[in-house]
Amino acid sequence: MASEKTRIPVIYAPLPAEDVDELQLAHATKPTSKTCVQRLISQHSLRPITVLAIALSAVTCLILVRCAILGPDQPCLCFSSNGAPVAQAELPTHYVLPSGDKIPSVALGVWQAGKGEVGAAVKAALDAGYRHIDGAWRYANEAEVGQAINDSDISREDIWLTSKLWNAFHAPEDIEQVLDETLGNLQTSYLDLYLIHWPVAFKKDTTEVDEDLTADPYPTWQKLEEMVEKGKVRNIGISNFNIQRVQNLTANPLKVTPAVNQVELNYWNPQPELLEWSKAHGMPLEAYSPLGSSRQVKETLQVPEVQAIAKKLGITPAQALISWHVQRGTIVLPKSVTPSRIEENFHVHVLPEDLFNKLEEAATSHPPQRVVNPSKDWGLDFDIFDDYPY
Ligand code: A2P
Repeated sequence: MASEKTRIPVIYAPLPAEDVDELQLAHATKPTSKTCVQRLISQHSLRPITVLAIALSAVTCLILVRCAILGPDQPCLCFSSNGAPVAQAELPTHYVLPSGDKIPSVALGVWQAGKGEVGAAVKAALDAGYRHIDGAWRYANEAEVGQAINDSDISREDIWLTSKLWNAFHAPEDIEQVLDETLGNLQTSYLDLYLIHWPVAFKKDTTEVDEDLTADPYPTWQKLEEMVEKGKVRNIGISNFNIQRVQNLTANPLKVTPAVNQVELNYWNPQPELLEWSKAHGMPLEAYSPLGSSRQVKETLQVPEVQAIAKKLGITPAQALISWHVQRGTIVLPKSVTPSRIEENFHVHVLPEDLFNKLEEAATSHPPQRVVNPSKDWGLDFDIFDDYPY
């Protein structure tokens, strides 16, 4: 996948109007005086009723195939509860990863959820219906997260648990031990997803960059593949990787391809090129800081396009934003330690296409601005993301 040269679009824009016209024109001017159906009837001496029966069978087959692909949790047809067709399906509750596992589309993020509050947040989330908790060794709160999960009456296999490998443990010989620490803290024998937290490796017990493992994360990845084989982890992925860094990893002969890439995605930093590229390469993005993080959440909720959606649909601005993320095709990880907000953030809604497009356009037409970039704090002589000045 990665060895191919990919043209990264400079800007994100819908197909230009003239291209659309050209496509439509190509269809409209096909040199034919009869429709396909008319030709079929006349060439094969078929009765119209036979053609109708064939068409109905074909449609039924297509629906059955779609249902089989989407699985039992996804709507196969767009029907409302009273059976009437509706304009749009529900937003996806899950995405299917290459392993066949289904990852819930909305998670509770626990970055910056402090000790003494994160357990209650996890409990509130599970009570509200969340079945996906996104954490990390570095957040230093895994023991409390694990206790809250253990105290609930929800079975382990019904909860999706993600953790992340910290920079200081990228050396293959260090990985299993720190993974075991995470598993112990979470009181579980396996993770659903384990991510390389950053594409930056530190030398053991330091914050000094390990240049070899940063330039080439393949040895780290091979050890993670071994953890999959051992059953300690069901899926492995990456976080904070830009396209070039993904390609740098996937150019190797991987046994397991990265299941997801978790990156900052929000109104201020919507990363349309990365999103488009990731979709084209079948690697879903997970959106962290989806509301703009504590630093910018207030401003994000005030964005006029967000407010307009909230007003039109009778939902909150946070729900409008979280829905936008899912409708963009990403997994979304809003963080909150406030029970009412946790409950609020779980309810996503299909946005009307025109309002979705307006928000997408507003998000992608101002200069991008990251909330999270530790390159300077870590004293790096390079920018981790290497895309725009920060
Ligand atoms: P708190 O945790 O105190 O509830 P992000 O997910 O982008 O990192 O944003 C997290 C920030 O947004 C936190 O400060 C969190 O506050 C706040 N937040 C989360 N959900 C909502 C909401 N529904 N309305 C307003 N603020 C929210």
